Amino acid sequence: MKARVVVLALMLAGTAQAEDLHALWDGQCGGCHGHAGPFARESLEIRNDILVGKTSHQPVAEYLVTHNGGYGPDQIAALRSMLAAQVQAGPEFQIHCGGCHDTAAQVLRDWVRVQDGKLIGRQSGQELTLFLSRHGGADAESRARIIQSLTRVADELNHR
Ligand code: HEC
Ligand code: HEC
Repeated sequence: MKARVVVLALMLAGTAQAEDLHALWDGQCGGCHGHAGPFARESLEIRNDILVGKTSHQPVAEYLVTHNGGYGPDQIAALRSMLAAQVQAGPEFQIHCGGCHDTAAQVLRDWVRVQDGKLIGRQSGQELTLFLSRHGGADAESRARIIQSLTRVADELNHR
């Protein structure tokens, strides 16, 4: 019982401190590296479960300790897991949506609200699972992956 209370307290503390990761990226990294997704897929890879730079061959978590004068441990942990997810997310968003929409984060901020854990188009009021069957031209498998990564990004944005 006590353990559960502690876990809950930690979860709440985490939520309160959660930053908008994509704003962090745009403010601190995007000026030099562009969009996070393409940067992650081009420049980073996962080796033995560790996210490393393809050129530096260094773990990203170590690299960022000194890169540009260094980043804090919380920011590094958050950016590392965001970038690791992006390495694994695949290029579906870029291929099917990127021609018209800048980034997944932008789509969410401008067009989508989250209700009961579901992504809903602001204009249409439709769930994206339905909306995207008639918009963007991605097949069912790519749509599922796109919705999966939009859901992850919504979480990272702390998006409501
Ligand atoms: C002022 C420009 C600038 C900013 C801001 C910047 N970087 Fe970099 N970054 C570079 C350059 C240039 C390189 C290439 C290696 C070098 O010269 O240091 C690099 C390399 C990297 C690498 C290593 C890639 C590899 O192939 O090994 C990672 C990871 C990285 N940056 C992540 C970040 C993250 C995350 C942020 C934000 C927290 C950030 N960078 C902010 C310019 C920048
Ligand atoms: C050919 C350009 C184009 C492509 C490709 C495209 N979109 Fe859109 N999208 C738009 C435009 C323009 C709007 C806003 C106006 C409208 O509703 O027509 C929009 C609106 C949306 C909305 C708002 C829905 C609502 O109910 O408010 C969402 C969500 C969205 N797009 C997601 C995506 C995703 C995800 C993809 C990739 C699978 C994608 N779009 C591909 C042009 C595009």
